[in-house]
Amino acid sequence: MKKITKKILCMLLALAMLMTLMSGCTQKKDEQKKTPVSTQQTEPSETDEPTPEEDVVYTIDNIRDYVIGVDEPVELADGTSRPMINFDNAATTPVLLPVLDAVDREMKMYGSVGRGFSPKSNHTTDLYNATRNTVLEFVNADPSIYTCFYVSNTTDGLNKLASALVESEDDLILATRMEHHANDLSWRERCQVIYAEVDDQGRIQYDEIERLLEENEGKVKYVTVTAASNVTGYVTDVHRIAKMAHEHNAQIIVDGAQIVAHRRFSMMGDTPEENIDFLVFSAHKMYSPFGGGAVIGPWETLVQHMPEFYGGGIVKLVRDYDVAYKSAPEVYEAGSPNYPGIVGMAAAMDILNEIGFDRIEEHEKKLNRRLIDGLGKLDNVIIYGDTENIDDRVGVVTFNFSDVNSFVLAARMANNSGVATRRGAFCAHPYVWRMMGISDEEAANFENCVDMNTPGMIRVSFGIYNTEEEVDQFLQILEDTLKEFRETPSLGGSANQEY
Ligand SMILES: Cc1ncc(COP(=O)(O)O)c(C=O)c1O
Repeated sequence: MKKITKKILCMLLALAMLMTLMSGCTQKKDEQKKTPVSTQQTEPSETDEPTPEEDVVYTIDNIRDYVIGVDEPVELADGTSRPMINFDNAATTPVLLPVLDAVDREMKMYGSVGRGFSPKSNHTTDLYNATRNTVLEFVNADPSIYTCFYVSNTTDGLNKLASALVESEDDLILATRMEHHANDLSWRERCQVIYAEVDDQGRIQYDEIERLLEENEGKVKYVTVTAASNVTGYVTDVHRIAKMAHEHNAQIIVDGAQIVAHRRFSMMGDTPEENIDFLVFSAHKMYSPFGGGAVIGPWETLVQHMPEFYGGGIVKLVRDYDVAYKSAPEVYEAGSPNYPGIVGMAAAMDILNEIGFDRIEEHEKKLNRRLIDGLGKLDNVIIYGDTENIDDRVGVVTFNFSDVNSFVLAARMANNSGVATRRGAFCAHPYVWRMMGISDEEAANFENCVDMNTPGMIRVSFGIYNTEEEVDQFLQILEDTLKEFRETPSLGGSANQEY
């Protein structure tokens, strides 16, 4: 009896301990669970690392809470630390927590893509292929007309496309003087390129495109144009250009590097003649810095070509002296793919859609207006592009001061105040020289110049998480730094101030 009572007591004690433990766990879990974020802005806490949440609705007002590293202090020249003001989003964007989380989750099931016999390999292969539809949907591309292949970034995509589409060095491409080098040199080095000029404000001249198409009737194979400039932020009416190109039997290629994280992009125009043929973009400019990117193009054209890029994964059969290649899209993807890059890119697309491109556009316009108005109040400022009508500009603003060297100014703001901008000619030299009024002959003098002796501008480029408060802080830092240079010539601010 005594023995039984002891046994029962022990069991009760164990049960009580188990219940306490379980209630502790439940409490911990509840404590950890953040309140679902609604459309209200939440104050980012300095100590809290963001945690992935299933039930969050991501909005333009709360997205800053889910940007990794946004509150991470960086060390300044005086040894103090503060979080950066990151205004260099046209170069690359930070990672969003839900994007990182999606990549992290998928790594548990990671296996070889299209090459293995295992449940993980099957899962990875299925998701890799299914993501093509996510990409097509993101840019409103009808899957019966278009397919997509994955690339490392826009540069890789444009080079692969050029390598596949250019058939002879006499092929003629029509580009513009607004292009990033990726969408200029990829063609220039392979065939003949003619360029449509920009106007005094730096906008593409549509009439020039029409004129060049007529002047070279039937000879232009592709018109290639950026959807948004990385120098002035101008958004191109690509559907208008598509119509012109198609009327002259050319196809249109769009460099989408600066558009896909900023404005809703549709491959489909109002009429079939206005449809875009090819679009190329990078995932690292859309909050997924794991590499990755995509080229979207018509089945009909892509199946007729392949890039000069060879290896495994693109063949049906190889014999001693014969190769049978697969077709599009696989034939454009030699080698093992960057799976995390593709998972991250798809997750980023979901978040951008959830936030909504109307809200993103509205937010960027607000930031642009505030910055341009603030800059306009500063002495000796030169702001590039149209500062009145800014509706056709994504969040990119470039400027200079006629009496302070832009290189030393940007460097001092970075080192002393933790401000990230970009300074230089942004891999769009011909366009930047035009905007700065530097002739092609003059530009030849700068070939061997370095640092402060190179011509260039300062560029601010916004992401979805930047705030009006940051713009105000930036303007204050800029004003204070300009004052330092003007009052203390020994700081070297006036060196080659023209540039
Ligand atoms: C308009 C434009 N095109 C192409 C590129 C090249 O992109 P990536 O470096 O990701 O290849 C950039 C990069 O800044 C760009 O701004």
